[in-house]
Amino acid sequence: MIPPEIIEEINSTAKIEEVIDEFVNLKRRGVNMIGLCPFHNEKTPSFTVSPSKNLFKCFGCGKGGNAVHFLMEHEQFSYPEALKFLAERYNIKIPEIERTDEQKQADQEKQSLLIINEYAQKFFTKNLFESDEGRTIGLSYFKHRGLLESTIETFKLGYSPKSRDQFTQEAIKNGYNLDKLKSLGLVSQSGYDFYRERVIFPFHNISGKVIGFGGRILKDQAKAPKYLNSPESSIYNKRKTLYGLYQAKSEIRKLNQCILVEGYTDVLSLYQNGIKNVVASSGTSLTIEQVKLIKRFSDNTVVLYDGDQAGQNAALRGLDIFLENNLNVKVVVLPDNSDPDSYIQKVGTESFKQYISDNAKDFILKLAKNIQDTLANDPVNKSIQIKELVKSLSKISDQLKRSLYIKECANILELAENSLIKEVNRGVRNEIGKKTKEINRARPAFKENVEYFNKTIPEDHSQKDEGIQLDSERYQERDIIRALLQHGQKECTHHENISGLEYLRLLIGESFLEFKNKTYLKIISKAFEDHDNGISFSANRFIDHSDKHISSLAVDLLSDPNSYANWEEKGVQLQTQRPIDENHEKDIFQSVMRFFMTYFKEQNLIWKEKISECTDDATRIILLTAYKKFKDEMREHASKLNTVII
Ligand code: UTP
Ligand code: MN
Repeated sequence: MIPPEIIEEINSTAKIEEVIDEFVNLKRRGVNMIGLCPFHNEKTPSFTVSPSKNLFKCFGCGKGGNAVHFLMEHEQFSYPEALKFLAERYNIKIPEIERTDEQKQADQEKQSLLIINEYAQKFFTKNLFESDEGRTIGLSYFKHRGLLESTIETFKLGYSPKSRDQFTQEAIKNGYNLDKLKSLGLVSQSGYDFYRERVIFPFHNISGKVIGFGGRILKDQAKAPKYLNSPESSIYNKRKTLYGLYQAKSEIRKLNQCILVEGYTDVLSLYQNGIKNVVASSGTSLTIEQVKLIKRFSDNTVVLYDGDQAGQNAALRGLDIFLENNLNVKVVVLPDNSDPDSYIQKVGTESFKQYISDNAKDFILKLAKNIQDTLANDPVNKSIQIKELVKSLSKISDQLKRSLYIKECANILELAENSLIKEVNRGVRNEIGKKTKEINRARPAFKENVEYFNKTIPEDHSQKDEGIQLDSERYQERDIIRALLQHGQKECTHHENISGLEYLRLLIGESFLEFKNKTYLKIISKAFEDHDNGISFSANRFIDHSDKHISSLAVDLLSDPNSYANWEEKGVQLQTQRPIDENHEKDIFQSVMRFFMTYFKEQNLIWKEKISECTDDATRIILLTAYKKFKDEMREHASKLNTVII
């Protein structure tokens, strides 16, 4: 997109110390400059900038690079965004190739809206500090609420005058387009100021541009809304906006934690009191987009709730979005109906921090505890609430984390762990089903799949010759591959709409790693691996495989649905009769069960042999104890299949 010679020019023109100086307080130390690293938390500076090398390096956390790298890391810019930022700053013209007229126009449109918003923000701020009305009404309101001028400046707060159209008139006089002013919600449809006699909170995007406003009413007027917020526009999407993120982002990254509050004033108040990693979801209930935005800076969020109980459980449940996106989330309920603003003003920063660290409860465990505390003697409602909790639990994609939570929750709720596991598993399958459908919808064309497959599996000729002969010995493994190829992409309607592959995987767990035949192992591993990478299963990929053994095996298995029909003669016990196609879920289940049973049988023989060969009594006792354990495991296996944590 950007020509290499321009990239070169940008890189050589941009002075690293100038670029970084805007974000980090740098001091000269010899030929270099040093400062506190913005990428990790430190008290003594190890962040070093070398103007001669035009590079930065932190000797604490190891991050380093040129100006572009710094901006990408610090501002979360993409590569072209970082280059454009620098080009703009150093007046380097990037020739616009490859961009359509519409794109250019849309960009220009956005650009002009941002310019208008910047003008409006300056108008409101100027009014706040310089007009009599602004000072006596707006500024004194902020001061009354305990805000310092430095905070007001950091967040670029302002005041909109009482007048019907002072802003509109001035904006027009300065040449701003009326339609655009209206589309930004700064001027009403009838041509008057939209914000009147309100204090103004600008919303910034992640790079600090003003994309919208919230205006808070000052008097108690029952009819008017407390906040008037900008309407959505091509530059403002409230689902993708977090109030305060621009000011908080570097601190969020540094502390590796984001604090989420409800109100604009809560953000200001905590920030001013030194808790700067704070954002608000600005007038919406939390959205996926906002959670993803947080995740760019940290995986840990603490949600602060006002002290009133009302709707707390419902609000908590809204936090499933965090779990789905693999964020750790804790909740703190503030005492005595206070909100973060009033509470920090009351107790001060240190006690506030202390309260948070003492009371930050894991959100899932908190839900479980709420249920147990309020509904222990109400089994009907308790079970309803537990079902909701199970929904949240099944959103946790990390399996280890999920199993730990299940254990804890079962504990808190005084439930048998297994019954909770079963419930959650059902939910997980549901989730897997949903995701698979999404993936299916988005999957690449079949041809690309074939190419991908052939490209990524290197051909393995090592066991080509004895390979298939060996294969014929491992009926059970072969039968699992058959079931996989035949049913992998079908839906298992009896199992909450997961795919055949997912069901098979659920049953077999990690035991496929015991496969002795390398070809089968390769096929099943590849199928699972692709699934993990979001590539949905397709038997055709194996048919089109460049390794002839795999290809002909796949053809064999797929074209003969009863390929294990004559196994009984070969000594394989079948547990049910065909035809298998009638119920592919049962078929999958049985192929896995046969594998397990044979596996256990083989192991059983090995044990017996070992024991009979053993002459030393002490060792024999040890072996027998171990053998008993093995047999228990074998016996329990079938029942366990139903309660494994998936
Ligand atoms: P609050 O009523 O708690 O507001 O609403 P606040 O910001 O803490 O204001 P103070 O402390 O009373 O001055 C929480 C958030 O809900 C959104 C705003 O984002 C607000 O900060 N909200 C509330 C609106 O968007 N519009 C409204 O009319 C009310
Ligand atoms: Mn408040």
